Amino acid sequence: MMTIEKILSKIPIELCQPGDYEIWAERFISPEVMAYISGGSGSEISLKRNRQAFEKISLLHRALIDCTKGTTQTDILKQQLRHPVLLAPVAAQKLVHPEGEVATAQAANAMEAGMILSTLSSTLLETVAEHTEATKWFQLYFQPDKHATLNLVQRAEQAGYQAIVVTLDTAIQTLSPRAQKLGFTLPQHAQPINLAKKISTQPTILTPTQSVIFQGMMTEAPLIEDIAWLQAQTRLPIIVKGVMHSKDIEQLLNLNIDGIIVSNHGGRALDGTPASLTLLPTIRRQVGEDFLLLLDGGIRSGYDAFKAIALGADAVCVGRLQIYALAVGGAKGVAHLLKMLRDELELCMALTGCSTLNDIDRGTLFTEERT
Ligand SMILES: Cc1cc2nc3c(=O)[nH]c(=O)nc-3n(C[C@H](O)[C@H](O)[C@H](O)COP(=O)(O)O)c2cc1C
Repeated sequence: MMTIEKILSKIPIELCQPGDYEIWAERFISPEVMAYISGGSGSEISLKRNRQAFEKISLLHRALIDCTKGTTQTDILKQQLRHPVLLAPVAAQKLVHPEGEVATAQAANAMEAGMILSTLSSTLLETVAEHTEATKWFQLYFQPDKHATLNLVQRAEQAGYQAIVVTLDTAIQTLSPRAQKLGFTLPQHAQPINLAKKISTQPTILTPTQSVIFQGMMTEAPLIEDIAWLQAQTRLPIIVKGVMHSKDIEQLLNLNIDGIIVSNHGGRALDGTPASLTLLPTIRRQVGEDFLLLLDGGIRSGYDAFKAIALGADAVCVGRLQIYALAVGGAKGVAHLLKMLRDELELCMALTGCSTLNDIDRGTLFTEERT
């Protein structure tokens, strides 16, 4: 069993901020794999916006408040989490470390962090589940046929996952131009082992007048009735990841889904969308105060987690950072990363006068007066 003391005793002193893992990862990952992970779609406008949105926000220091009883503890879907930083679903983790998702799960367990396992995991979902007793959710991509989708959901239920996260923003999945230019392909050892068939890079056979997008990929994109169908198949809560249009959200609210992850897929889906942080306040207004909202996209520090919570998130998820830490230090790297993120969040809370996550509100942010 990993203890935090053991983890910290082996960490090089140069790794003292979450972002350091991104710099170090370059030494552990080949250029084409790095391009696959770090790249964004199109001209990377959404990717850049995710970071810019955080950088624009200022925090207000506050003194004279007793924070000695402070805690980052939170309840999400009736599950207790020690802190509101979860591991986002990231495919094919054996690309960067031989232990892949098992190492990530061990880190989540050591740090009592929530983990969301991708449909495209390179490790069996049952094996991953055995390595963490902390909150674990299964991220679902609808499969071309309903039996295959149902099979994944039932396996996740049986393995002890506590929620299904349905991702809706990547009906069209293409490699980023950066990864294409370096000729990235998914190697055998990182294939999505939970799926019956390997991911096909061959488009569906179409007639010359048919479009690969409309008559090809979009024929597999889930519709609102598919979400309703899913609700009828499982007793698990359903959280939807990657919706931003108010009409989509309205339809999902009408179905009483259990939560939303505000996300633009880390700038890997439709390019040119707002940053997820920019979307957050509007979506919070639409869904109301008590609805479960998480955010991902551009989180690179505990300061960012704080800002997202101040703007309406109940918790945040980290995507690329966890993969960089996994590449550099396996389970220890990811656990150390989570520890740094939590420490930074605590620091922000203490210096803005917040003892609980509920205290983090817009009053902790500084807004310049308009002239
Ligand atoms: C290499 C990579 C693979 C990803 N795979 C998935 C996936 O299988 N399912 C999913 O819902 N999101 C996937 N995502 C998106 C993440 O869950 C998350 O939305 C995004 O990484 C957040 O942005 P960040 O990387 O800036 O933290 C992936 C992201 C990356 C970088």
